[in-house]
Amino acid sequence: MKRRKFIQNAALGSVAATIGASLIACTDSEKKTVIAAEDPSDRKYPVVIATWDVKEATASAWQSLKEGKSALQAVIDGCAVEEANADGQSVGVGGLPDRDGRVTLDACVMNEHGDYGAVLCMENIMHPIAVAKMVMEDTPHVILAGVGAEQFAVSQGFKRENLLTEASKRGWEAWKKTAEYKPIINIENHDTIGMLAMDKNGVISGGCTTSGLAFKMAGRVGDSAIIGAGLFVDNEIGACTATGLGEEVLKTVGSYLVVELMRQGKSPQEACKEAVMRIVNKSKNYKDFQVAYIAMNKKGETGAYSIHDGFVATVYRDGKNTTEVPESYNSL
Ligand code: GLY
Repeated sequence: MKRRKFIQNAALGSVAATIGASLIACTDSEKKTVIAAEDPSDRKYPVVIATWDVKEATASAWQSLKEGKSALQAVIDGCAVEEANADGQSVGVGGLPDRDGRVTLDACVMNEHGDYGAVLCMENIMHPIAVAKMVMEDTPHVILAGVGAEQFAVSQGFKRENLLTEASKRGWEAWKKTAEYKPIINIENHDTIGMLAMDKNGVISGGCTTSGLAFKMAGRVGDSAIIGAGLFVDNEIGACTATGLGEEVLKTVGSYLVVELMRQGKSPQEACKEAVMRIVNKSKNYKDFQVAYIAMNKKGETGAYSIHDGFVATVYRDGKNTTEVPESYNSL
């Protein structure tokens, strides 16, 4: 197993010239970051990876990186594209509601310093990921939920709006006719957007945003906004985010697990696969639900793995925005 060497930026001045570590144009906050001292030819960054086929979202994140914005801001800008897309029924406006017809959103962000912010079960605000960043930066807390999250968002200048589109309302009304008020678990009703970005200096951040399980019980929260489950970033090692049935991701602390597996030397792909296999091996009914992880390591290498096929990831690297079809456990 190849061991990576990490050095503190504080001691970098003389060493950087020898190892070619890139520190050009660092901000003060980036200067505190531990960076990988690798052969520059190994570097596969800057890079953006997101769950599902979301090329406009990754293009927006890439553009933000190109403009010199932080990896965190790139992720927020990218996720905001899907939050504002009324045709997407799993994130932001147009998200499918809970079984009582309310659209409730979960989102979180994590930056290169290990700072984290989240909103849970928040209504009426289109961009929960931007609110999550403000929770992280402008409050003494890391999670705000429900009415408190909404009030905080409004106090920060976000406007309240109806997130239930006519199409999602029709979907909910159709569901009510046959569902007997029971939440459905299946492999189609989770399309959470998780996104990871690494800037030209190798700084990593991530975000995750969702309306959660369609027609869920009121108050239900999934993995997406919970640190270690739907998202985890360790700037020394890499990052991971998840999509799929949140209950299963939560029980295995999936994103943290993937990062820890990369710390032990696994590639992003191998780590995602092992985390999926933990779920498959523990859950008798894995055939009934989907879970997928995407990950990146400190070199900017990316990987993904899902229980079932049908999952895709979008990767923006070297100026190319591509949809990748990862391996899955249950290929048809
Ligand atoms: N992964 C999204 C959710 O379960 O809420």
